[in-house]
Amino acid sequence: MFPIDLKSDTVTRPSQGMRKAMAEAEVGDDVYHEDPTVHRLEEKGASLTGKEAALYLTSGTMGNIVALLTHCCRGDAAIVGADSHILNYEGGGLAALGGILPLAADDSSGIIPPEEVVRFCRPSNVHFAPVTLLCMENTHNRCGGLALSPEEMEETVDQARKCGLLVHLDGARVFNAAAAWDVGVDAYGTLVDSVQICLSKGLGAPVGSLLCGTREFVERARFWRKKVGGGLRQAGIIAAAGLYAFEHNLPRLKEDHENAALLGSLLAEGGIEVERNAKPTNMVYFRIPVSVSETLPRRCAARGVLFNAAGPGRIRLVTHLDVSREQAAAAARIILEEVFSS
Ligand SMILES: Cc1ncc(COP(=O)(O)O)c(C=O)c1O
Repeated sequence: MFPIDLKSDTVTRPSQGMRKAMAEAEVGDDVYHEDPTVHRLEEKGASLTGKEAALYLTSGTMGNIVALLTHCCRGDAAIVGADSHILNYEGGGLAALGGILPLAADDSSGIIPPEEVVRFCRPSNVHFAPVTLLCMENTHNRCGGLALSPEEMEETVDQARKCGLLVHLDGARVFNAAAAWDVGVDAYGTLVDSVQICLSKGLGAPVGSLLCGTREFVERARFWRKKVGGGLRQAGIIAAAGLYAFEHNLPRLKEDHENAALLGSLLAEGGIEVERNAKPTNMVYFRIPVSVSETLPRRCAARGVLFNAAGPGRIRLVTHLDVSREQAAAAARIILEEVFSS
């Protein structure tokens, strides 16, 4: 039962079946384009997202930076959400490596509204960095794991197109969004020019992301992946985990959402202020006094329930394939006991 690790859906460990698939993977040198397992994974990722091609990379961060480097030139500007992962948690890579100016748009509702796109798309003028790209995020991590429907994204994407922008989707958890809305991931992929999907979050692989787009885009992205040190050799060993994840772990994502819903409702019934959003997935955020949030993670960790504060007075819990329904219920009980004993 313990520990119950709710820090993130990145903490999962590969199952025996996944490890076996990795051990038995057929491999080749992927920089020479000779790894059959990587090819199969890229083909599967492209077909799931409705794109022509895909590129295997080591992480979501690498997928996003390679997308930005491929879409933008030095000195371009990209519209990103003020609360987005790309802006807040990727080391400023777009500025450091790409010389790209981030324009932080209001995405506090979980989406950059079309008016924000208009606000940043100013007419061509020597004073302004040319805006060439809009980056969206779905599910939206800092906005409670909110899942946007393809229709909700469409209005913003349409406005971006009217302004002549390309659109990249940070779809680290777009499989969760698709599961929450009961749609295929291609409903999102076909809206945008490129989409980055993570294999090492809800899908439970130990490593890996895919950057999907047109064949021409992916070929250019391949050059950038090499430049940032992401050209891998016998990568089939790790790509096999991604293929295994698509087959075995994709169909079960809704269980994580149900466990998160249970956790959230038990905490709320116990008197904690749980944040609500229109389409929750595998995350639960709740508010407690700052004085309590400072010590709560440590006190719960001592009882085997692990999580982090997302900010002062705000706690995040994430469910995943290594958290059962019973563990979700046990975690809620321990958190309630610790909150109300402080
Ligand atoms: C929304 C989002 N995008 C991108 C990433 C980056 O993924 P990675 O940790 O594989 O670099 C994360 C990681 O948590 C994320 O939550």
